Amino acid sequence: MTAAADLLSVRGISKSFPGVRALQGIDLRLRSGEVLALLGENGAGKSTLLKILAGALQPDQGTIEVLGQPLRATSPRAAQRAGIGVIYQEFNLVPALTARENIFLGQESSRLGLLRIGDERRRAERLFERIGVRIDPEALVRGLTVAQQQVVEIAKALAFSARILVMDEPSAALSPREVQGLFGIIGELRAQGIGVIYVSHRLSEIFAIADRVMVLRDGQHVGTQPIGRLTRERVIEMMVGRSLDQEFPHRPGPIDPHPTGPPRIGPPRLVVEHLVRGQAVRDVSFEVRRGEILALTGLIGAGRTETARLIFGADRRERGTIRLDGRELTIRHPRQAIAAGICLLNEDRKSQGLVLKQSVQENFGLPNLARFSRLGVLSPRRERAALRGYIDQLRIKLADPRQRIANLSGGNQQKVVLARWLQRHAEVVIFDEPTRGIDVGAKYEIYLLMHRLADQGKAILMISSELPEVLGMADRILVMHEGRITGEIRDVAGATQEQIMDLAVA
Ligand SMILES: Nc1ncnc2c1ncn2[C@@H]1O[C@H](COP(=O)(O)OP(=O)(O)OP(=O)(O)O)[C@@H](O)[C@H]1O
Ligand SMILES: [Mg+2]
Repeated sequence: MTAAADLLSVRGISKSFPGVRALQGIDLRLRSGEVLALLGENGAGKSTLLKILAGALQPDQGTIEVLGQPLRATSPRAAQRAGIGVIYQEFNLVPALTARENIFLGQESSRLGLLRIGDERRRAERLFERIGVRIDPEALVRGLTVAQQQVVEIAKALAFSARILVMDEPSAALSPREVQGLFGIIGELRAQGIGVIYVSHRLSEIFAIADRVMVLRDGQHVGTQPIGRLTRERVIEMMVGRSLDQEFPHRPGPIDPHPTGPPRIGPPRLVVEHLVRGQAVRDVSFEVRRGEILALTGLIGAGRTETARLIFGADRRERGTIRLDGRELTIRHPRQAIAAGICLLNEDRKSQGLVLKQSVQENFGLPNLARFSRLGVLSPRRERAALRGYIDQLRIKLADPRQRIANLSGGNQQKVVLARWLQRHAEVVIFDEPTRGIDVGAKYEIYLLMHRLADQGKAILMISSELPEVLGMADRILVMHEGRITGEIRDVAGATQEQIMDLAVA
């Protein structure tokens, strides 16, 4: 061992689950002050590798060294003691405790009572200072934004003297501005010599933050390269194993008529007027036309998801009307929205009611939805065929449709949710962050599906925080801020990300 020993050195890690070889002979090195991006399609093995580093999973084979010292016991405590801090996508914070209590949870202290609290508060303040973010240590975690909760998680890892920070899709629940904040934090930590492993499906982030990029495909190490030697196209090619000419499928502009037949975008189908719910949605009106993809963007908390939930009947609106094809709808419950032909696909796997101990097939079928929907109820045989079709099209990675959905990777669970809704025929389809956590190849397939739905004359409302996606997919863009629509962009081809951001903070 020399002074220049790697911060982290992983050799020959393999891990299998029934029916899958999740990791095969993986090597990885991380240096002090470096950001290593870990990329790969859904199910490639990224989270499995991180869980092994965190001591939460036992590898079948392989070794891990921190600063030249082998990590013998693989347990969460041993990993923590060795200086590996892990931030999972679903945080491990206790909402009813304060930031300070969460940071020091599980740490022994020789001091008692007030002395201990005062001590911890000062340490928490110092940690937040080190990260460069102001948070009141005595604030309840429940009341913090997702970005602030993430900062608390990072502070918690640093309180355990982490020198290696491992982050699994840390930006997935953050708005563009908050992602910038996170990058600032990572910059600070890297200057302090901390090494970071960063997982994300957003390539623009990788080019903004990573020093090196490591790509996994089907559990195998495809390659690791300094970022300077890579292009977006090359990274995609490494991930999906073939080149993808474009990230967004082409579609004629909204004013170009089809070579034959009527213009692509027709009369208004969904018309909402004066929607109100508390401070979240304050007098929102807009329309979505036949064949149109309308993007609704803005910062997290701007009221976009809340607006979608009112249209879908998931929350009760205080005021406002919803019309479809000129007919006013009574929507007080999602079942009424579904019956009227409106469906909502959102990104939150938990609220989608995935039944984790049931199989993929059972989750896809979702009988309790079919019960109150006259739309798209399939026979079991046709349902299986439909599922097979989606497994193919969206490249859902699984060993068997009868396996438990809990054992699918995060992105693949997401794809099943999407497939479940896509098979139900609706006239208005609301996508809430449709591609969050989804790999680049499957994103393209989802975009194609959205085009196909629009071409069938449906009205598509797409909520997205990913500005490239908004610019690449929308016929028209609405921007929300603090419960109101603050801007509309009709000339999407001429629009820029900066223009949208300006409207979003208006
Ligand atoms: N507990 C488990 N039991 C069975 N199979 C599992 C289990 N955990 C993971 N797998 C499988 O291992 C493979 C790798 O999964 P992993 O979660 O590491 O993927 P990932 O790269 O993180 O994907 P994503 O981008 O979707 O999060 C997948 O095929 C997954 O289904
Ligand atoms: Mg994962």
